[in-house]
Amino acid sequence: EEKKMWGGRFTGKVDPVMEAFNSSIGEDKVLWKVDLEGSRGYSHALERAKVLTKEEGKAIRAGLEQVGAEWATGTFEIKEADEDIHMANERRLTELAGAPGGKIHTARSRNDQVATDVRLWLRAEGHEQLALLAGLLTVCSERARAEVDALMPGYTHLQRAQPIRWAHWVMAHCSSFRRDAERLTQAIARANVMPLGSGALAGNPFAINREALAKDLGFSAPMSNSLDGVTDRDFILEFSSWATMLMVHLSKFAEDLIVFGTAEFGFISYADAYSTGSSLMPQKKNPDALELLRGKCARVIGNHTTLLTMMKGLPTAYNKDMQEDKRALFDTAATTRAALQIAAGVLSTLTISRERMRAALSPPLLATDLSDYLVRKGMPFREAHHVVGSAVKLAEEKRCEISELELADYRKLSALFDKDVAEVWDYDLAAERRDETGGTSKRAVLEQVSRMEAFIKAE
Ligand code: ARG
Repeated sequence: EEKKMWGGRFTGKVDPVMEAFNSSIGEDKVLWKVDLEGSRGYSHALERAKVLTKEEGKAIRAGLEQVGAEWATGTFEIKEADEDIHMANERRLTELAGAPGGKIHTARSRNDQVATDVRLWLRAEGHEQLALLAGLLTVCSERARAEVDALMPGYTHLQRAQPIRWAHWVMAHCSSFRRDAERLTQAIARANVMPLGSGALAGNPFAINREALAKDLGFSAPMSNSLDGVTDRDFILEFSSWATMLMVHLSKFAEDLIVFGTAEFGFISYADAYSTGSSLMPQKKNPDALELLRGKCARVIGNHTTLLTMMKGLPTAYNKDMQEDKRALFDTAATTRAALQIAAGVLSTLTISRERMRAALSPPLLATDLSDYLVRKGMPFREAHHVVGSAVKLAEEKRCEISELELADYRKLSALFDKDVAEVWDYDLAAERRDETGGTSKRAVLEQVSRMEAFIKAE
């Protein structure tokens, strides 16, 4: 029977089921590196406060390095009594460094330790995910620039609406991913404050100089209230909220591409690298990567719900409930990390069929342009909408397209119609007319791309 670190006042044995129930090492061992980093910083702070001698500080840091080497080489041995990563590292440190190891936890609590570790972890993880997001933005921008000439129908309610550029669709999604990048940057900055020195809840009674400690650990500042320091998990909720919104965006992106890839649409074909076959139907090529982007969104929403529910109604300061945040947080991070790479992979490798996109354009998509034609000749829009409605009805009766009605038919509906109405039936011109900022003209779309490229560069 191993000795518990907190075992001083306990005499009874712990129920083995409780032992497992209480343990989080299986999940939080991924924090090994940041936990050692936090202890390294804290050893300097204790040294400054004269709690540790120079020699003790040195011995502790040498020990921490050794512990890190064991983790890095996969030789760290987790013992039964190591209920979490903080206990495990400290136990091993004390074995390696001897007596000084027993001083590292002076005035520190796992309450401020775990909050500090997770912030350090999230900061590094966040930066890596930002880089992946930048990769996705780059793929979007490159595709949009290269294929800016391809026209396709734009849809509302999944009904053909107006001609747009394929690149315009790409940049629409890219715009939401850009906001995701901005949000993550802001979330990382807000997370980057230091709880260490909050102790269990009341603060640190030794003169450890938290400002210097924060600087040493790369935090922008120490947290200004120790009670808040140990109880605040906003930074986890914010990351999870970021992830949830990102996944909702990726899910919409995936859904569009699934629809575009059906035989009925035929706008795009997926690369083999991101599709799978059917075990029964030899002709099938399924968009599994995209379906999983959609499906894994559910999982991240579930994790977010877990985190919110876990925090709801907790009393102030540390509560063990909060240990449950690890599984949800790490699972969410792993999921968005993979999803960002898959999304970039799918988009960079699919091929588009400009012919199929163009073939899906039909005269009714220009009905708005026909009413705009009348508006340009002075008719109020509501009236023009009505007149064009009548033209659509007439074409239906004559079983032809609105572009095929005679000029005489049109003149019966309004005297404002003239020979130049023929110019309305040009899809490219319809796109080109939408030349204001944010529109689907070639210039307006390329402007969106240029702005995105400048954003990526500045990131
Ligand atoms: N392993 C815990 C967590 O992840 C930290 C331990 C704090 N425990 C405590 N009883 N004060 O939240």
